[in-house]
Amino acid sequence: MESAAYIRRRDAIQTYFDRTALDAWKRLVSTEKVSGVRARVRAGRDAMRATILDRFPNDLSGWRILDAGCGAGPLAIELGHRGAHVLGVDLSPEMVGHANEALPAIRNGGSVRLVAGDMLAASLGDFDAVVAMDSLIHYPHDEAHEAIASLARRTSRKMVFTLAPSTALLETLRAVGKLFPRGDRAPLIQPVAIDRLIGEVLTRPQMAEWARGTSTRVSRPFYISQAVELVRS
Ligand SMILES: C[S@@+](CC[C@H](N)C(=O)[O-])C[C@H]1O[C@@H](n2cnc3c(N)ncnc32)[C@H](O)[C@@H]1O
Repeated sequence: MESAAYIRRRDAIQTYFDRTALDAWKRLVSTEKVSGVRARVRAGRDAMRATILDRFPNDLSGWRILDAGCGAGPLAIELGHRGAHVLGVDLSPEMVGHANEALPAIRNGGSVRLVAGDMLAASLGDFDAVVAMDSLIHYPHDEAHEAIASLARRTSRKMVFTLAPSTALLETLRAVGKLFPRGDRAPLIQPVAIDRLIGEVLTRPQMAEWARGTSTRVSRPFYISQAVELVRS
């Protein structure tokens, strides 16, 4: 069951991405030229997207993948082009509406469907894989723990998600502070002790079939995030 704290935080995140930060995010994920901090954040995000994609085969025909917290859908689209059937879900109906208007034709037999909602909703169904790029970074230790365990229940092969390493706190705050006007700051990014968190998740009896895969940190000026891979045997 979702905790009251999770529901409060989820509502704040939705308001932020649906209203406050919508235009900034649209620019960030567009092909529009950006400069300064935005360009550096975009470069860091591109590197992280490539890192996550590296954890998947080039041919994803037949895979069903959930992009949890898909935003404008850049990762979902790349996975779709590899032949996967991707469901992207995001709290922000505005972001999803924008993404659906800009959705390209998906190549290689894949498909991408983007919907508004909570990534933890069981009604989304079951998947071969789950990806979550920079969406779990908004949840503190206990809520991230519950979210990872909840996503694992619906996943048969692997999960690749990012977390904000606790050492990144200062840099991350700096980046977010410069990216958006004062007063429009993100619902705070929640740095966590990643090794400890993943160790705790893996001790749950329901996680007995899961093991750590590759973990890669992308550390760039104004962008620090760590990709964690968990694999089901
Ligand atoms: C930093 S953005 C990243 C978006 C996208 N993954 C990307 O990399 O471009 C974080 C996104 O996670 C979404 N998000 C956070 N918590 C969520 C939840 N519980 N369910 C669905 N989406 C969520 C937010 O609405 C936001 O669009």
